[in-house]
Amino acid sequence: MSGHLTVSDLSVSFGGFKAVNGLNLTIGKGELRCLIGPNGAGKTTALDLICGKTKPTGGSIQYRGQELARLEEYKIARAGVGRKFQVPSVFRQLTVRENLEVAYCRRTGVFSNLFHLNRGVDAEALESLAEFVDMADELNTPAAYLSHGQTQWLEIGLLLAQECELILLDEPTAGMTVQETQKTANICNRLKGKNTIIVVEHDMGFVREIGDIISVMHQGSLLAEGTAVEVSANPQVKEVYLGSVGIGHA
Ligand SMILES: Nc1ncnc2c1ncn2[C@@H]1O[C@H](COP(=O)(O)OP(=O)(O)O)[C@@H](O)[C@H]1O
Ligand SMILES: [Mg+2]
Repeated sequence: MSGHLTVSDLSVSFGGFKAVNGLNLTIGKGELRCLIGPNGAGKTTALDLICGKTKPTGGSIQYRGQELARLEEYKIARAGVGRKFQVPSVFRQLTVRENLEVAYCRRTGVFSNLFHLNRGVDAEALESLAEFVDMADELNTPAAYLSHGQTQWLEIGLLLAQECELILLDEPTAGMTVQETQKTANICNRLKGKNTIIVVEHDMGFVREIGDIISVMHQGSLLAEGTAVEVSANPQVKEVYLGSVGIGHA
């Protein structure tokens, strides 16, 4: 099966240890795919490989008809792949509006560059983007004063402002309150159809709320794939989560 994003037999070794080992994933355009698995399964490394932070030792990453596996990281970003890291990349001394303006200016599409040369940042587009990530009331707030949750949403806003189509989120709800987690689920649900998204997440409640299809990783490769109900009932999935807190509460 071919997809908008097709990861085939992807592998990387660190000193002989295969952190990702023959991973296969096919993700459709506008799909939100949740990636789960026990600690050390290779989820973060898989995202590192897709965004080019880590180079694979084997396999392929086809995205919109382009092979990403051997491209430099900036070219992968230019192809529309955006990764949100745990450490925020916002400019703390700049306001939310200014942060978004900077991100708009980093747009890489030829048409957008021409557009910005002529007209600067479109304030209306910027404000509707801020609304999309629940930050419309914070446009004049310096990023340093944002809550943890707001900082994460601004980060997603920055990826969207940069016209990233494929968005990679690694444990986006880590450290969030219940309310912040709910807002993040709403943002993820709004992104569906508009962007293609991979969300690595531990919180199964969150996964159930946003994920249609869930891919389960174990020891660097795909163990199971299906709906939340299907993967939770899968004996192999249950097995790999045994000894940890269990899939329902992981
Ligand atoms: N740069 C690295 N060097 C050596 N080992 C690494 C490196 N990055 C990850 N690993 C190892 O690869 C495995 C997978 O890690 P990771 O992708 O972070 O798992 P997950 O995100 O699923 O918890 C772990 O055993 C980890 O220790
Ligand atoms: Mg991880």
